Formats: sequence, structure tokens, C-alpha cells
Amino acid sequence: MTTTKSTPMSDADLEVMYLIHDAFRRDSERLARVAEKGVPEDPATHDAVLLGWHGFSRELHQHHMIEDEFLWPLMRTRLGQEPDALEVLDAMEAEHSLIDPTLAAVEDAFDDREHGPDVLAERLDAIVHLLRSHLAHEERDALPLVAGALTSEEWHQISKDALRKMSLSDVAATTPYLFEGAPEDRIRLVFSELPLPLRLLHRFWWEPRYRHARRWE
Ligand SMILES: [Fe+2]
Repeated sequence: MTTTKSTPMSDADLEVMYLIHDAFRRDSERLARVAEKGVPEDPATHDAVLLGWHGFSRELHQHHMIEDEFLWPLMRTRLGQEPDALEVLDAMEAEHSLIDPTLAAVEDAFDDREHGPDVLAERLDAIVHLLRSHLAHEERDALPLVAGALTSEEWHQISKDALRKMSLSDVAATTPYLFEGAPEDRIRLVFSELPLPLRLLHRFWWEPRYRHARRWE
């Protein structure tokens, strides 16, 4: 990576991370409600819950993949021999690897129409619990390390590399997911960093399509 400038990272740089974490928290509340009430019997509502679940699980996988591939390895080279900091990075990766099988277990419960309903609530509770504690841990211990170790230019390069790695259909699913229900000022901050063609696609195609699909309720 070649960077000529080295501007310290700002809160605005990290906003995209906080926004996606808040989107996961938004859906963790929905998952907790499904755990409490069960999946409705009627096929249309059942499909809406599944559409919501698949969107959530796809975005969470993708987010962790981006962190594991682009963020934590760069942080490791930066933090070198600082044992406390490396411990935090180890914990981030370990928590990701606990979350993945928990997502798969929920997926299995949704797929198994016969026995799945018996275990679904317990498995949903597990993912909700793991995810909330992971997000809190990352925000408390890992993001301050990121802000102290990387420059703003490096952070934006990671975003560019991640965007390049994603297919257009990944990006089409992610932008409306990220912005759903978020305050306008936070949306504006992150939206303005997207390349113009993606902003146009989001505004005129991806967001209306997302809004019109029935999900969760
Ligand atoms: Fe994160």
C-alpha cells in the first residue's frame, strides 16, 4: 500500500463501522423478537422473516470477512510486539469464529421445518448474545486501537479494497441494509464517501427495491 499523506483517523472515518454495527444491533432486536414469538405460520410472514434473516446473515459474514482479510492483518503488522493489543486482535478473530457456526446452526433450524422450531429460539438467543457482546468488545477495545494505529488514508484504502472485493450484487444488498432506519446525518456522512455511480444506483434502484421487499414483519 502506498500512501503519501498520513492524516490521523477521525470519528467520521469510523462512522461506517458504527453504522454497520448499529444495523446488526437493529436486526439482533428483530431476531430476539422471533426467538420470543416463534416464526409465524402463514407463508408470507414466514418468507418475510427468512428474507430478513438471510440479509442479516449475509451482511454479517461479509463484514467479518472484510475485517479478517483487510483490517486485522494490517493491524497485526502495525502493532508488532504489543502483547495486549495482539490479544485484542486474537479475541476479535476468535469471536468471529464462534459466530460463524452459530449462524449456521440458526440456518439449519430454519431449514428443518419439522424439528427446527424446537431449537430455533435457543439458537437465536445464542447468536443475539454472542453478536451483542462481540460488537461491544470490538467498539470498546479494538476500534480505539485501529484509530490509533492506522491513518485516515489507510482506512479509506481498506474501504476501497473491500468494495473492490465485493460483487455488484453484494454492494447492492449492503448499502440499503446499512442505511435502513439510520439517522439522516449519519447516512449523509457515509453515503458521501461512496463513488458517484454507486450513489446513483443506491438511490434509484437498490434502496427502492429494498424498501419494497417485505422483510421481518
Ligand atoms: Fe466490525
